[in-house]
Parts: sequence; structure tokens; C-alpha cells
Amino acid sequence: MGRTYYLAPLAGYTDLPYRRACRSQGAHFMFTALIDAGALVHGNPENEHILERGEEEDWLGVQLLGSIPNDVAKSAEMLNEMNYDAVDFNMGCPMAKVLKRPAGAALLYPANHALAFQCVSIIRERVKGKPFTVKMRILNENDPEPTIAFCKRLVELGVEGITIHGRLASKIYSGPVATEVIHVVRESVSVPVTANGGIFSIEDANALAEATGCDRLMVARGSLGNPWIFRELISGVPYRPGHLELCEVLQRHIVGMIEMYGERTGLLLARKITVAYLRGRGYSKKFRVKAGFLSTREEFDTFMQELRVEGPVGGV
Ligand SMILES: Cc1cc2nc3c(=O)[nH]c(=O)nc-3n(C[C@H](O)[C@H](O)[C@H](O)COP(=O)(O)O)c2cc1C
Repeated sequence: MGRTYYLAPLAGYTDLPYRRACRSQGAHFMFTALIDAGALVHGNPENEHILERGEEEDWLGVQLLGSIPNDVAKSAEMLNEMNYDAVDFNMGCPMAKVLKRPAGAALLYPANHALAFQCVSIIRERVKGKPFTVKMRILNENDPEPTIAFCKRLVELGVEGITIHGRLASKIYSGPVATEVIHVVRESVSVPVTANGGIFSIEDANALAEATGCDRLMVARGSLGNPWIFRELISGVPYRPGHLELCEVLQRHIVGMIEMYGERTGLLLARKITVAYLRGRGYSKKFRVKAGFLSTREEFDTFMQELRVEGPVGGV
């Protein structure tokens, strides 16, 4: 059976320019970063860019975070009216301020299950004509039963697909992925399960697919500064971009950010992206340091010119 690869929602990253970079390397299925239900309902302008979809984007899901029933209801209605191919509900965010609400991964705590299922029912009633999915974490590393029971309930409530990040919320993004838990859930529910966690190469993807039995896999941090991960995953062989290729994709990505956010904000947000593209590829550290100070288009152009000429240490 063929594999399907998804670009994960990544807050602060997976905006339109980021997705375009990944699409240029063959990625197809992707999600916006999480949208906060309250911010959407109350018209917070920060959401504007998260929600922006490119005309050429042929498949894009949107992800909702929240747990206040009224906000969840209204925001689900709004997202259903917008141009997205799926609506996903976030039950995985481990940030302290989100857990406190309680939202994100806090909905997996037994004390909050009733609220979690209430939110799922509310969204289910409002999302029509497109899949409604959930992205969550495992509930227990050693015992798959709590995660199975939770997922079965989601399916009873009408959830059409589940992505499982195989780590506990308390582990944030570190440590091994509990592949066996994902495997058993996949065997236990009737909807597609997407496995997520720790894919940084084709080898990692093969190992995760093998261990979980999932042919749907989601890539998150492995795409940071490396949209070519999709080329590698789709072709099945390792791929490292050449120097000029890297410069071209990086340039397009950052120029896209400047166009979308304006010069000042675009470059502020672009610093960490530029650093991510350069890390581990043999470039002199001075470029990563300089990237951290870029604030005008002119500085960026000079930076790219120097990078193009100098290339990685030891030659192209
Ligand atoms: C910077 C960052 C932002 C993230 N933002 C989101 C988000 O908006 N929604 C979500 O469901 N998960 C989010 N995640 C979690 C990832 O989608 C993914 O589940 C997690 O990183 C594990 O996959 P990985 O090991 O391939 O990175 C975020 C992760 C990181 C590192």
C-alpha cells in the first residue's frame, strides 16, 4: 500500500511560504498552524496570516484549538464556511498556558474527558462536507488501553481520522515515540490513524511505518529548514540539496515571508527559519549568527549574495 505523508501543523512555522517550500518538494497534504477558537471568534488579526491559503494549494486542512463550548461552536461554523479540505481539532498542545485553560493535551486528562467529548460533538455537528479529524497524543506510554478507549469514543462521536503523536504531553517533543501504542490503536479503530513523531529521514519513516502499521505518516520538526524531507520520503532515498538549490529555496521562502508579513515582521520571523535551513549543512557559523540580526530587505539580499558566493566550508 502506498504511503501518505502529511506536513504537521507547526505554530509559528507552517504558514503559506513554509508550505510552498514543502510543496515545491512534493508535499501534498498539510495543515495550517493551530487557530485559537476564541481568537477566531473575537476577530484577532493575528489569525489572518495563519488562515491564508494560496490559490495553488490543492489540499489544506485547518486546525482548531479551544475548549470553551461557545467559542468552539462558533469557530467550527466559521471554519466550515472557509476554504479548507479538513478540520482538525487539537488535543496535543503541551504548552503550560494552554494546559491551564484547559485545552490542547489537557483534554486527554481523565478529569477533562467529558469536556473533550463535548467539544468533539460540537465540532462534529458543524463540520459538513469535509473530514473532521483529531490530532492527539498518547494517554499512557506503557498501557495502550486508555488511548484505545479514548480513540474509540472519538470514532463513536463521528471523528473520521486520528493523528497520534506517540509521546506524552509531559515529554513535550523529546524521548522515544511509543510506537506500540499507536500500533494497537490502529488495530482497534475503524478510521485511518496517522502516526506522528520523530521522522527526520526516510529511515525514520520506514521504522515508524513498520512499527505502527500506519501508511499515513506526519512530519513536523523534520521539515524545519528541510522541505526536501518530502522529496526524500516520496522517492524513498536520502536526499540532500546542493548549495545553489538550498539558496534558491531559502530565498523564495524568505521573500514569500517578506511579501506576506511586510519587511520588518517578515524578517523577524524569518531569522529562525534561515538558521534552520543552514544548520548542519557545513556553512560557516557566521551566517547563522548574521541571520539572527537580519532586519531589512537590503541586508537579506546582501546576506544571500555572500552565502551564495561562499558556500559551505570545504566547497560546494
Ligand atoms: C514549534 C512547534 C510548533 C507546533 N505547533 C503545533 C500546532 O500548531 N498544532 C499541533 O497539533 N501540533 C503542533 N506541534 C506538534 C507537532 O505537530 C508534532 O506533533 C510534534 O512535533 C511531533 O512530531 P515530530 O517528532 O516529527 O516533530 C508543534 C511542534 C513544534 C516543535
